[in-house]
Amino acid sequence: MIGEGFHAELGGLHAERAALEDCRTRGEDPAGATMYVTLEPCAHTGRQPPCTEAILEAGISRVVIASDDPSEKAAGRGPGILRDGGVEVEFAAGEEATTARLLNQPFRKHARTGLPLVTLKLAMSLDGQASTAPGDSPWISGEKSRALVHQWRAESDAIAVGIGTVLADDPLLTARPPDRSGASFPPMAGEKRTGTVVRQPVRVVFDRQARLPLGSQLLRTLDQGPVLVVVSPGADASRTAALREAGAEVLVAEGIEAALADLGRRNITSLFLEGGPTLATAFQAAGQLDQARTFIAPILLGAGDQDASRAGGVGDGGVEDGPWPARSAPPSPTTGPARQEPLSHTVQTIGEDTLITARFKEW
Ligand SMILES: NC(=O)c1ccc[n+]([C@@H]2O[C@H](COP(=O)([O-])OP(=O)(O)OC[C@H]3O[C@@H](n4cnc5c(N)ncnc54)[C@H](OP(=O)(O)O)[C@@H]3O)[C@@H](O)[C@H]2O)c1
Repeated sequence: MIGEGFHAELGGLHAERAALEDCRTRGEDPAGATMYVTLEPCAHTGRQPPCTEAILEAGISRVVIASDDPSEKAAGRGPGILRDGGVEVEFAAGEEATTARLLNQPFRKHARTGLPLVTLKLAMSLDGQASTAPGDSPWISGEKSRALVHQWRAESDAIAVGIGTVLADDPLLTARPPDRSGASFPPMAGEKRTGTVVRQPVRVVFDRQARLPLGSQLLRTLDQGPVLVVVSPGADASRTAALREAGAEVLVAEGIEAALADLGRRNITSLFLEGGPTLATAFQAAGQLDQARTFIAPILLGAGDQDASRAGGVGDGGVEDGPWPARSAPPSPTTGPARQEPLSHTVQTIGEDTLITARFKEW
């Protein structure tokens, strides 16, 4: 192995050019070498020049490709150009091909459908509760699970919750993964850590009636990441104007698929759906859940007082628009969505919790 590379960020060197650079840094000549790539090399000029050019210029003699690029602008052109240039091109099959496809699910879904890949995260107790009682901590899962959730947030382009969760918990929804020393939840992101800045996802609230309180933590922390509120076309104009005035971006969309299409147009390729249960059910009913990560914590929670808001402390925190609205019980759907079996699933132990990861669609 004489060099390796990966596509580190949007606008940065593609994996092929990064690998060739790495060869040169190591004093190796890539001419005559075989290049193994997870994704078909691009043949078009985007933010970067075509990778096919770099491969031909470097004199690579053989390229092994683990997965095709499903975007329209690619569609097999790269391999064709390489073959025309005298490079031997092979496509991997079997396990390598599957692994490469799974590695690139957000990119592949976005390329094929224009929609982001949706991953649902939910935590529940042994008695099937997804909410804690008023006055209790909002957390159901343990510390190790929460650290993992922060890692997943940092890996996602956007995080979404329903307005019910914002009214109950007043969450921050930023990515605060543990640092390398193992200490969880270090100070706010944006700060440097081991040479990289934690990437903050766009924070999305599904809020048809534009009820997001102007004093919510989300709107008070716009310096830590953008907030996008999805409202319905019928939402009160003065409320949406107030949200815009407060610095939120307002997306007007009727239904979940239209909202996802709009997010996709904003180059959001992965949406980490953090609930609550009502929005999760709506996504499933709309056929828009690609994968799920569910934690089961070894605790009992009981039903709690569904009418009281747990976010008691929030009102003291500088809410500008009156008392925090009381939490209402999530409405139960009148027609239940059909049962869905996963394509594959795994079960893991994370600290004291059990994590079930299930994949429902593959792109
Ligand atoms: N265990 C967990 O992992 C977890 C995760 C998150 C939250 N929670 C808990 O869940 C509780 C809140 O649950 P929830 O179910 O009331 O809140 P939710 O799912 O976060 O929000 C529900 C609200 O989202 C709005 N919404 C916007 N677009 C929608 C659509 N297309 N379909 C359906 N609803 C849409 C609806 O209000 P409008 O009609 O006004 O738009 C609806 O009432 C809190 O106690 C929170 O702590 C638990």
